[in-house]
Amino acid sequence: MAEALWWQRGVIYQIYPRSFQDSNADGIGDLAGIRQRLDYLWGLGVDAVWISPVYPSPMADFGYDIADYCDIDPIFGRLGDFDRLLAEVHARGLKLILDFVPNHTSEQHPWFLESRSSRQNPKRDWYIWRDPAPDGGPPNNWLANFGGSGWTFDGATGQYYYHAFLQQQPDLNWRNPEVRKAMYDVLRFWLDRGVDGFRVDVLWLLIKDEQFRDNPPNPAWQPHQAAIERLVQRYSADRPEVHAVVAEMRAVLDTYADRVLIGEIYLPLKWLVAYYGKGMNEAHLPFNFQLILTAWEAQAIARIVADYEAALPPGGWPNWVLGNHDQKRIASRIGRPQARVAAMLLLTLRGTPTLYYGDELGLENVAIPADRVQDPWEKNEPGLGLGRDPARTPMPWDASQNAGFTAGFPWLPLNPDHTTRNVASLAADPHSILSLYRRLIALRRDRATLHSGNYVASHTEGDVMTFERRHDQEPTLLVALNLGGSLQRVALPDDAKEARVLLSTELDRDGEVVRAGFDVRPAEGIILEISQT
Ligand code: GLC
Ligand code: CA
Repeated sequence: MAEALWWQRGVIYQIYPRSFQDSNADGIGDLAGIRQRLDYLWGLGVDAVWISPVYPSPMADFGYDIADYCDIDPIFGRLGDFDRLLAEVHARGLKLILDFVPNHTSEQHPWFLESRSSRQNPKRDWYIWRDPAPDGGPPNNWLANFGGSGWTFDGATGQYYYHAFLQQQPDLNWRNPEVRKAMYDVLRFWLDRGVDGFRVDVLWLLIKDEQFRDNPPNPAWQPHQAAIERLVQRYSADRPEVHAVVAEMRAVLDTYADRVLIGEIYLPLKWLVAYYGKGMNEAHLPFNFQLILTAWEAQAIARIVADYEAALPPGGWPNWVLGNHDQKRIASRIGRPQARVAAMLLLTLRGTPTLYYGDELGLENVAIPADRVQDPWEKNEPGLGLGRDPARTPMPWDASQNAGFTAGFPWLPLNPDHTTRNVASLAADPHSILSLYRRLIALRRDRATLHSGNYVASHTEGDVMTFERRHDQEPTLLVALNLGGSLQRVALPDDAKEARVLLSTELDRDGEVVRAGFDVRPAEGIILEISQT
């Protein structure tokens, strides 16, 4: 087997920078704060850190509305702080991945200020401007994520501009070659500084239908769902021409050594895997969110793993994600006991795992009092549980005030159990979920079978999902995960003489030798090394 690259072998850790570590008591995490915590990440054993946007921004969408792609927002520090962080990340042998947000800018970006200033402005076509419909209304029926129409009228110039998200986030026109060139220059700006790659925001939305056809209604929509779901995003997303754009981005990265292109793409498998590109010339890793979107049930999970493995094109490297800053916390979705099983699944499947900060502590969604809501989605569509603040709360580090996150007033509340559920106390407990994460990451690093071996599904029975990982030079590993609440008996494969437990999610079975079969306790996962007959 060919030697795996760092982004294939490694584990990626996502930091939401506002919530990781505050260094100046303003209640908001920053780059200097992340720098102070690098030893924690090194000790956890992850290989790469992806940080959500830190560029200058009015923060209408907390950094996903960018006013300058080539600088750092003063809330997070200065360019010098960034360079220092990057140097210290690299000094520890880690990689740094930036968030690239090409679909839209902030309405405060100088490009948009120019574009909206007049119809004749040379940058008019850098954004998506359309005449009103004959009745004066929006040009078509497209909706915005976070509520309302996707079109906002500009009285001064008499046209509408399109925004897939907030009206403060106008979409760039990626059909315009000058836009493409300017954005590739942005990539080079950061690549030249030494960043190791990008996670690209809403990659599948970049190109819109050339004819701006209406989106069809979604018959499955229900009133408790977000308003955008009323329509199927047929003409506003995943247009065929987007693939040429992704290939161009990739070509920019390929002029540098060893960089990674990750795409945020929420699409069914068949369309998702198209983003590897024909001839593997698009994203290295189109994010695979199947574990977020699938019910936590053994048969269903086994099936999506099989479907995903089958859908991957030749040469396409898999990846898996349990959570991110837009989703409910895994520990809340499936419960704390199963969060340990999920950790084992994430770190034993074939493909690059991405961890979301705090999931290694079993952090849950934190209830946000009405007067502390920050997320614009919650403000625009309240009460539907769409808000993302609950999964963006500060990292609890220790039992001191504000869990060591800030000496000021935290921008979002801490988890109510922060005096016990924090890094310091979980690190001191050899049976904690944090200790489990450390063991899993270390095992994955040590065993080529886990980071580079094949995936072989086994028979999934009842609530127990079992699979093997195989490597031509190393012992086969058997993984058995009990997604249910009752004790289950699992048989060893016929050709196995015996097997030795390498790790249980309960961290209490190291070295146990089993023959013929073994028990898996409720919400337990086990990794065994098989001795062949
Ligand atoms: C992506 C980001 C999300 C953001 C949106 C608009 O989905 O992950 O946080 O609000 O894009 O940029
Ligand atoms: Ca700060």
